[in-house]
Amino acid sequence: MTEVLNWATDNNCAAGAFSVGNMEMIMGAVKAAEETNTPIILQIAEKRMKQSPLHLMAPMMVSAAKNAKVPVAVHLDHGLTMECIKEAIAYGFTSVMLDASLFPFEENIAYTKAVKAEADKYGATVEAELGVVGGNEGDCAKHEILCTDPVKAKIFCDETNVDCLAVAIGNAHGNYPVLPELRFDVLEEIYKTVKTPLVLHGGTGITREMFVKAISLGIRKINIATASFDALANAAKDYTFTQEKPDYFTLSPKMAEAVYENVKKHIRVFTNK
Ligand code: 13P
Repeated sequence: MTEVLNWATDNNCAAGAFSVGNMEMIMGAVKAAEETNTPIILQIAEKRMKQSPLHLMAPMMVSAAKNAKVPVAVHLDHGLTMECIKEAIAYGFTSVMLDASLFPFEENIAYTKAVKAEADKYGATVEAELGVVGGNEGDCAKHEILCTDPVKAKIFCDETNVDCLAVAIGNAHGNYPVLPELRFDVLEEIYKTVKTPLVLHGGTGITREMFVKAISLGIRKINIATASFDALANAAKDYTFTQEKPDYFTLSPKMAEAVYENVKKHIRVFTNK
């Protein structure tokens, strides 16, 4: 992950962090990365492991990364328990996120420090979140947005030495009911004092112009989940609804192709290719 984040910083762009839930999603994302010759991050959130168990996903994700022709980091998104964080690192994830954003500031710092100490033993990097991103990741309760406080962000990064920081600037997980008004003024304040690479969650539905502006203000990792899951589901629907006898061997590449197209589209925006 450090390599991918450094690449993004050096090139004034953002690495796409693409959520995956099955083999086809992994294949589609890696194909897009290789074709555009761009490093990416494959990630899965703890809450998604009900549908896509870690013991099945992790070996596929790690193997895909090892065999890719471009650097691919493998990341635990929205880790909620130390148990899951340890398991992901043991499987070879290069990066983990602890989401303690709903805890009070001091507790968020304490939990993040504990995860950082654990990850350091294996050379894995750590993402934390400060402020509250709206919507939900998985089927946990929906959250009201609470923008990251720039002063607290500086204290948080100094105290935890975290490798990247997810900020809340009006962004939310899932499909936005209306185009969000991202608080670039808040992001700018954070970017002025915080040297840690910044992460934007809730990438689905954000416009090209907004991505470009966010990248110009220090965003180095952008999470995309819903757009890929929707692309896959719609491809499956379009195929199966038109076939009298749908077959898996035709369906599988169609699902991978839909994710590939979505990932490629986002990579182009994030890297200005
Ligand atoms: P979206 O589902 O809105 O793309 O958000 C992805 C995300 O932030 C995962 O953590």
